[in-house]
Amino acid sequence: MATSKIMIKGGRVVDPTQGIDRVTNLYISGKKVEKIGGKTSKGYKVIEADGLYVMPGLVDMHTHLREPGREDKETVISGANAAVAGGFTSIACMANTQPPIDNAEVVKYVIEKAGKAACHVYPVAAVSKGMEGNELTEMGDILKAGAVAFSDDGVPVKNGELLRNALEYLKMFGVPVLLHEEDMSLSHDGVMNEGPVATLLGLTGIPSVSETSMIARDLVIAEYIGGKVHFCHLSAADSARLVKDARARGVKVTCEVTPHHLVLSDDIVKEMEYDTNTKVNPPVRSRDDRKALQKALISGTIDCIATDHAPHAPEDKDKEYNYAPFGMTGLETAVGVVFTELVNPKKLTVKEFVTRASVNPAKILQIPGGTLKPGSAADVTVIDPGKEWVVKTAAFKSKSNNSPFIGNKLKGKVILTIVDGFVKYSEL
Ligand code: DOR
Repeated sequence: MATSKIMIKGGRVVDPTQGIDRVTNLYISGKKVEKIGGKTSKGYKVIEADGLYVMPGLVDMHTHLREPGREDKETVISGANAAVAGGFTSIACMANTQPPIDNAEVVKYVIEKAGKAACHVYPVAAVSKGMEGNELTEMGDILKAGAVAFSDDGVPVKNGELLRNALEYLKMFGVPVLLHEEDMSLSHDGVMNEGPVATLLGLTGIPSVSETSMIARDLVIAEYIGGKVHFCHLSAADSARLVKDARARGVKVTCEVTPHHLVLSDDIVKEMEYDTNTKVNPPVRSRDDRKALQKALISGTIDCIATDHAPHAPEDKDKEYNYAPFGMTGLETAVGVVFTELVNPKKLTVKEFVTRASVNPAKILQIPGGTLKPGSAADVTVIDPGKEWVVKTAAFKSKSNNSPFIGNKLKGKVILTIVDGFVKYSEL
């Protein structure tokens, strides 16, 4: 729906970039935020927002779209539809497509597809050619083509020298490397968290040290070079501790946590009886890890909430636990899961939520968004914190359904998403 002038009336407007958290009106004119506050509604389409939270559009810095290559699982268009249904106005899509986003042509291909998408889509390009870990991609050309960061996510950057060279080169551009941290000699054929639950279930474990040892290595490489590193999907208490210590020494490090690592622990594999929708990399870990991740998110040691939305086809997931691929969808459940567990119980304030799910990811990727300052893009998310809903496959806009939250009752729902002044999702 195209409306040139919109007034979102009487919602709780939360914008940490302006120190705003009050019930007021938000005015949109064309593609821009016009102003916050004021009484006139003449000439505006009025959207009543009594009891609703109005915030800068959410930014997911870690999404897997499967285009090019596996369009049956997700396309740029279907992923963006899932994003706006989940309140995201911007998403960064990872490079592990087929072929990978490892040269300027593939970046341009994704950007062309993104032109028709419901939200802003920013490609993340591979660190290494073919994501094989041997040779750096043509980073200068790739940045010129429009990529916003580099990552071999799905696999780690095994070779320390390659990471060193990437960080050295990217210092010129101020662009971060987004790191999937896993020492594969330690995780090898593991399928879930190493611990008593894995033992009980007879499944091979992935120890948390496979993540923490690589984080430790890359923090010292980043410190030595003075480069910017961002750690994807932290899963272990010790990972957050390492980040905190390094940041205190001045290392340029940021990091993210997924909704599933914040609310699930490895018991879920037992509770859901080997349901492969619980299989994810890194795996959800112990209850203590989960608690520590929540604490680190609340304290700000963890900068961002990111979904790691990883769509998979039923024929791929419908296998024995050992043979199913890692990954779960997340765009459409992120807000409900985080509100149910953290925001509604007041463990995480609304302001902290907006900072972690919008302001910080936009800042880290240096992309527009994360603010409602007058003149900025009218990317706005409206959440009903009290709305109860049940996660249902039929409602997913994503092409894939591999969520462990199907059937869960959640409290907190995105009910309106506006991108560049256009309503892209509405339950009003
Ligand atoms: O579980 C995961 N799935 N972890 C990753 O790092 C990659 C992702 C995928 O692409 O399926």
